[in-house]
This record gives sequence, C-alpha cells and structure tokens, in this order.
Amino acid sequence: MGFVRNIPGTDISVSALGLGTVKIGRDQSVKYPQSFSIPDDGAVRKLLALARDSGINLIDTAPAYGNSEERLGTLLDKRHDWVIATKTGEEFEAGVSGFDFSAAHTRMSIDRSLKRLNTDYLDIVLIHSNGNDEDILENSDCVQALQACKEQGKIRAIGMSTKTIAGGLLAASMLDIVMITYNLEQRDQEVLDFARDHKKGVLVKKGLMSGHAGSVRESMKLLFADEGISSVIIGTINPDHMAENVKLAREQIGTD
Ligand SMILES: NC(=O)c1ccc[n+]([C@@H]2O[C@H](COP(=O)([O-])OP(=O)(O)OC[C@H]3O[C@@H](n4cnc5c(N)ncnc54)[C@H](OP(=O)(O)O)[C@@H]3O)[C@@H](O)[C@H]2O)c1
Repeated sequence: MGFVRNIPGTDISVSALGLGTVKIGRDQSVKYPQSFSIPDDGAVRKLLALARDSGINLIDTAPAYGNSEERLGTLLDKRHDWVIATKTGEEFEAGVSGFDFSAAHTRMSIDRSLKRLNTDYLDIVLIHSNGNDEDILENSDCVQALQACKEQGKIRAIGMSTKTIAGGLLAASMLDIVMITYNLEQRDQEVLDFARDHKKGVLVKKGLMSGHAGSVRESMKLLFADEGISSVIIGTINPDHMAENVKLAREQIGTD
C-alpha cells in the first residue's frame, strides 16, 4: 500500500497520515502533556499548507472541538482536494461535554457541520461515542439518520469513533468506517482484525497516546505496519512535528 490508499468499501482515497484538529479549536478539558495556545489564523494556514504539500489530504474535526469546524471552513482552500471527517453526537459547551444521538440532533448536527465547514458535502461522519457504543448503535436513531443523510448526498461515508471492543466490532459490521484507539499501550486489535477481514475502513485516533507516547519512532513503526489501517489521525499544531511524522510515516510505508 502506498501513502494514499482507498478506504475499503468506499470511493474515498486518504493519506496514510491524517491531521487531527482538536488543538486548533479547543484548549479546555484536554489531556495533552503540555499546555498550549490555540494557533492564530496565519499559523493554521501555514500548517494546512504544509499538510497539503506533504501529501496529507485527510482532516479530522468535530463539533466538540471548540471552533475547529468554523475555522477549517474559513481557512481550508480548495475544499475538493481534502477529505473532511467530522462527527456527531458530542457537544462541548462551557467546558462540559453533552451527548445526543437522536435523529433530530443528528440531522441538525450534519446541517450545522455543512454550514460551519462551508461545504455542500461531508466526506466522513463518525458517531462521537460517549462510551456506550453498543447502546448508541442498537437503541438510538443515529445510524438511520446518518444513512438518510448519506442517501441525500450530504455524506459520503459513515462510521463511529468507538471506545469499547464490542462496540467497535458492532460498528465495523454496521457502518463503513470505525475509528479506534491504537498505540503502544492500547490496541483495539480485535476490531482492527475484524474490519480488515470484512473490508471496512479503519481510522486510528490517539496513535501517539495524545502526546504521552515515549517514542514517536516506535509508535510509527507500529501504526504503519498493519494494512488494515487506512489512516492514522495525528493531532499536531507544530509544523516541525508534522514534518517529522510525515518523514517517519513515509519511511515505514516505504514511499518518499
Ligand atoms: N473521536 C474521538 O473520540 C477522538 C478522541 C481523541 C482524538 N480524536 C482524533 O484523533 C486525533 C489525534 O488524537 P490526539 O490528538 O488525542 O492524540 P495524538 O495524535 O496521539 O497526539 C497528539 C499530541 O502529540 C503531540 N505530537 C504530535 N506529533 C509529535 C511529534 N512528532 N513529537 C512529539 N509530540 C508530537 C502533539 O503535540 P504538538 O501539537 O506539539 O505536536 C499533541 O499534543 C485528534 O486530534 C482527533 O482528531 C478523536
């Protein structure tokens, strides 16, 4: 597999390394090891230009990431060159997370993301789990609402960012894509194996343990060894870190 790969079962091609954008929109209730300042517009433009020039096309955001969606809507040039993944279900207001997986909220959230991101389609929408993965999938209307939005052409692929193995397995059986935790300490291996065998897309979150991984190089070796992983979403607001991550990812994958 090269640096750009097709997400199985979809017509979406993504870079093996994606960009996570929590830190461009939110600095409250985050668990990063170092405090940071949200970068200004000029710094975000430079980061996005570096991502594009490095071959990164996948950007991950969410309504729960402060004003990340609105900022991307303003600062992303050439929208069609990017694959935008956003989420539904979690809201973060006044420093507190709340969750709503109803059909009405899901429809509202999709229309709001379209507006905030200044686009008429979302490439990927993931259910932003509160931890009760199976309950959300089995007992809410969220999946049906997402499927209806997909049929209407508002979304190209749907998935779930899961927190449990059982939920990950169910999400991978029901949806196009599952976003799992995979790093030196925690690996949702069963979900990855199931998704690979059933030709479903896998996105990885927290690949560097939200900045707590001891070795970036060892993390990258692990993250790019499994062909079942479509893309590893790494959060960074530091251009030097982005350049290092791209270099290490390309070394592991064997493409320059
Ligand atoms: N759906 C969900 O429930 C969920 C949950 C968590 C995360 N996510 C998504 O996944 C993305 C990644 O997760 P994450 O941000 O929690 O964790 P992560 O990607 O494992 O780690 C990000 C942290 O690592 C640091 N970092 C990045 N590259 C580095 C390097 N080369 N050397 C040293 N430090 C480096 C970053 O700091 P600098 O900014 O200084 O580089 C940042 O603090 C998020 O941005 C988000 O898009 C989704």
